[in-house]
Amino acid sequence: MKTKLEELKNNALAEINNSAGLEDLQEIKIKYLGRKGELNSIKRGLKDLSDAEKPLIGALANEIAEEIEKTFEIKYADFYRKSVSKKLETEKLDITMPGDYKPYGSQHPLTSTINEIVYIFQGMGFSLVENQNSPEVETEYYNFDALNFPADHPAKDMQDTFYTVNAPNLILRSQTSNAQIREMEKKNPPLRVISPGRVYRSEAVSSRKNNLFHQVEGFMLDKNVTFGDLKGVLNEFTRQFFGQARPTRFRTSFFPFTEPSAEIDVQCIMCSGKGCRTCSGTGWLEILGAGMIDPNVLKGVNVDPEVYSGFAFGMGVERLAMLKYAINDIRLFFNNDVRFLEQF
Ligand code: PHE
Repeated sequence: MKTKLEELKNNALAEINNSAGLEDLQEIKIKYLGRKGELNSIKRGLKDLSDAEKPLIGALANEIAEEIEKTFEIKYADFYRKSVSKKLETEKLDITMPGDYKPYGSQHPLTSTINEIVYIFQGMGFSLVENQNSPEVETEYYNFDALNFPADHPAKDMQDTFYTVNAPNLILRSQTSNAQIREMEKKNPPLRVISPGRVYRSEAVSSRKNNLFHQVEGFMLDKNVTFGDLKGVLNEFTRQFFGQARPTRFRTSFFPFTEPSAEIDVQCIMCSGKGCRTCSGTGWLEILGAGMIDPNVLKGVNVDPEVYSGFAFGMGVERLAMLKYAINDIRLFFNNDVRFLEQF
């Protein structure tokens, strides 16, 4: 029995040392030390031994079991270490390799300009009216008639305004001033509203004109609103938008829906004197139209012009962005050339 045990030990150790890998090793362990393994089947013969032999052979069997176990552990640790280092080797990261280039998108300059304008007016207590409350596909009534345009006004001409084919009264709005009417119809004064959006005009496209562009409309309606309030608000706007106090000039003008009306110029921000290309040497740049809301417009939305007065203004977003960022062609905003867009 002793020789049998010695033989078993030698076989087991040899098999362990020659094993091919972790799985192989586990099988060998089960084969020798498992419940139904070879060592146990030898041990089952212990009962047939004499009382003197039993403890000796029993102890030897335990010793052998321990030795097999130990050899197994060493081999196991060895295989384990090798498999880990192999894994580390194959999954090695080269941190000196250049990364994948993923370009970041950024806000379109018109979007950021609109946001900036809205933000400045919000700071003066104006609230933002979203696009769905002043639609781009609009009736002639809101774009013109309610704004006091006479029936034969030249702006209503097909040459200036896009009409729809199937619905004769539906046009693409030519200005954001429809927002004034839609808001005043829905809400009672006091009101301070800012409303950006797209407008359309049937015009030949050039470096200065596109037939789609953006405006920001604003108005204030309350008791005792004066032209002085309009000046104060717009001067503060230009100061914040251009980053410093800039001289502005209010020129008399005409809009059917404001009386008196003005066009507001800001001192040329890129002026190089007489031959300046930005302002054609005048020293001034027109940035918006404005005025006191005409009493006829107020009556049309059931506001008593004897009690309430208000001012309104509308500014071209492209124009403001072109001045601020020294952009010389309006079409750049619409061509989606990344070389232009990625500069913002
Ligand atoms: N809607 C006018 C335009 O497009 C601008 C404007 C708005 C003028 C509000 C006065 C008041 O030219």
